[in-house]
Amino acid sequence: MEIKDIKKTAEREISLVKTLKELESFENKYLGKKGILTRILRSLKELNPEERKKIGKEANELKEFLQKEIERKRGQLQEKHIEEKEKKEWIDITMPGKKIERGHLHPITLVRTQIEDIFQKMGFSVVEGPEIENEWYNFDALNIPKEHPARDMWDTFWLRQNELKMQNSKLKMSQRLLLRTHTSPVQIHYMEANKPPIRIIAPGRIFRYEATDASHEINFYQVEGLMIDKNISIANFKFIMEEFFKEFFGRKTEIRLRPSYFPFTEPSFEIDVKCSICNGKGCSVCSYRGWIEMAGAGMVHPNVLKAVKINPEEWQGFAFGLGLDRLTMMKYKINDIRLFYSGDLRFLKQF
Ligand code: PHE
Repeated sequence: MEIKDIKKTAEREISLVKTLKELESFENKYLGKKGILTRILRSLKELNPEERKKIGKEANELKEFLQKEIERKRGQLQEKHIEEKEKKEWIDITMPGKKIERGHLHPITLVRTQIEDIFQKMGFSVVEGPEIENEWYNFDALNIPKEHPARDMWDTFWLRQNELKMQNSKLKMSQRLLLRTHTSPVQIHYMEANKPPIRIIAPGRIFRYEATDASHEINFYQVEGLMIDKNISIANFKFIMEEFFKEFFGRKTEIRLRPSYFPFTEPSFEIDVKCSICNGKGCSVCSYRGWIEMAGAGMVHPNVLKAVKINPEEWQGFAFGLGLDRLTMMKYKINDIRLFYSGDLRFLKQF
């Protein structure tokens, strides 16, 4: 083949090259170790001097020409490559970002902090106690003796203990461990460590060994309250409770005290709130009673004060236990307590 034919073919071929890779094989084909042009240049020595001069010159010119063409093409292709990459990586900085989903407080926590705010404004401090108690704090000190039937009011989770260990360490039977069935033992802890006057609330988790249904769970929450001072009467008690419920549910809220029984209060009451759904007429939410029970309460029994070495002749007061779950259910009109503990996002996302 004549050099000028090779040049023609090569020119056509390079014009069709579209990628750097194609360019590489083109370069190889002509200028590589076994390339067309390389072979021609190598075989020059076999030609006679005249031919050698002529073809040698042409071949070298073509070689230079192709090298230049290849470089030009490489430049073009590299530019194109960068442009395409930029096009692919282009970012629209005006586009709104992906939102990171944020967690939020559980409805029971929301209501707990609201309750804390209301009582703190009335001078109450917020305190805590342990979830594992012994019998003394959960029962005995609260005027509920060993064999007293009142213990049956609280279905208890007892913790298994090593009997021998108990004897060795001289633990009395009254120190058997359990999961607290109410927040009332926090009253005892606090009064052991602090002198009156006392004004505390103690929110916390409690446990009952019960079957679950729409209004019962094996664990739920209470807010205990305790106020001890000189000359505290039922009038003070009623005012504080009324004030709390009006702040919590709205100023129009009405409450009533119903006689009840707790071993650690005398007299004892249940606090009912007038049903906000039917305004006291009776509906399915209040089981057609017109009122909904929200708390147990009463004037602190002298035996409780004696158990913590406070003189009942000098100090009196009241205590209450609010059902935190029930307050939350009323506030948000939730009809099943189990939803709180289900971890169901369809429920939780509504708060
Ligand atoms: N601890 C009682 C309960 O769980 C409620 C209560 C608290 C009653 C304080 C009176 C005083 O049922």
